[in-house]
Amino acid sequence: MKLVASISQGLEKEGAKELIELGAKSVQASRRHILFDGDMACLYRIHLRARLSFRFLREISRFSCHGPNELYSGIQRSIDWENWLQPKQSFRVHVTGFGEGLSHTHFTALQVKNAIIDLQRERWGFRSSIDLSNPDICFHLHLANSTAVFSVDGSNSSLHKRGYRPAVGIAPIKETLAAGLMRMTEWDGTNNLVDPLCGSGTFLIEAVSMLRGIASGMDRQFLFRNWPDFDSSLWDQELKMAQKMKPLNNKLPKIIGCEVDKVIANSARDNVVKAGLEKYIEIINCPFQEFELPSGVGLLICNPPYGKRIGDEDELPNLYKQLGKYCKKQASGWDLWLLNGNPKLSKYLGMKASRRFQVNNGSLDCRWLNYKIK
Ligand SMILES: C[S@@+](CC[C@H](N)C(=O)[O-])C[C@H]1O[C@@H](n2cnc3c(N)ncnc32)[C@H](O)[C@@H]1O
Repeated sequence: MKLVASISQGLEKEGAKELIELGAKSVQASRRHILFDGDMACLYRIHLRARLSFRFLREISRFSCHGPNELYSGIQRSIDWENWLQPKQSFRVHVTGFGEGLSHTHFTALQVKNAIIDLQRERWGFRSSIDLSNPDICFHLHLANSTAVFSVDGSNSSLHKRGYRPAVGIAPIKETLAAGLMRMTEWDGTNNLVDPLCGSGTFLIEAVSMLRGIASGMDRQFLFRNWPDFDSSLWDQELKMAQKMKPLNNKLPKIIGCEVDKVIANSARDNVVKAGLEKYIEIINCPFQEFELPSGVGLLICNPPYGKRIGDEDELPNLYKQLGKYCKKQASGWDLWLLNGNPKLSKYLGMKASRRFQVNNGSLDCRWLNYKIK
């Protein structure tokens, strides 16, 4: 099968590595996407275990498309509709890209929908209903270079929603992005891990989940179960393997989140419990300036406010100055990884980054900065 992963900009390389580890073949990373081949077992496995991608599409047909009429007939001819969609099943169409006479994704989606339901009416006399929030099948059309790529989405909602974070702080980072950034640090659970401005605790939860071998999609309802070629015994096999995944590291060091806001700290604790990680992660409610780091060395990871979504830009220089001072005074020999969306602020740390990676946090252009604290 030809598969495509959607991923945040900046995580493509790490995302490709993760997919290769899970059995993907012919993996090609491009901007915000990863193209690869995989069999059905691989498709089930990546939905269950991949942590960096937020969507996987399976291509079911591809045809040339020079306008609405060609799209309509191409969709009707593209797959064995009797097999793929029964009138009792609901569906949704999601469109990306543009083509000749197809410059509005909403109009394009209507054209696809009409092609499908007209064909159903002709064949059965009745049609599927559209369900935007909870469909049985989710189709995806991508238009580019006069080509239509028609796919099915294996999941109804973005895979960043793991289910452990009903409680979110202010401006939480997406779980998929936190997982990718953690992978980039290469933290292997030998040394301490501290998030001094932990918000809802996403970095710590993702880091420990990866290390404990916890599969991200165990409780999720996947849409591929409604596909005509769904293989339930293969699925059970993959599910069992995901349940039995071995932790990469059995004994963990200190893993601590520090959060100044009491309500947010409490919700971070709830999230940790919901993720089943309360044995490993401690959340402390105090300003980081008052928090004493555990003995030994380790990683400090954080995304402090950067004024675009939260925090007053006038007060933030002081916060960054204090964080820089804190690192130099308390964390000699540690590594700091900081996600920064405002270059004017990171200079107040008073340290020089040894490595920097461009990543997007939602629509914000950010840098994932690594400092070796002297
Ligand atoms: C951008 S959010 C972090 C989001 C977090 N990564 C998550 O996944 O939810 C920044 C957090 O830093 C906290 N904060 C601000 N100043 C702080 C301080 N001096 N000490 C500890 N936490 C602080 C804020 O309350 C906010 O929750």
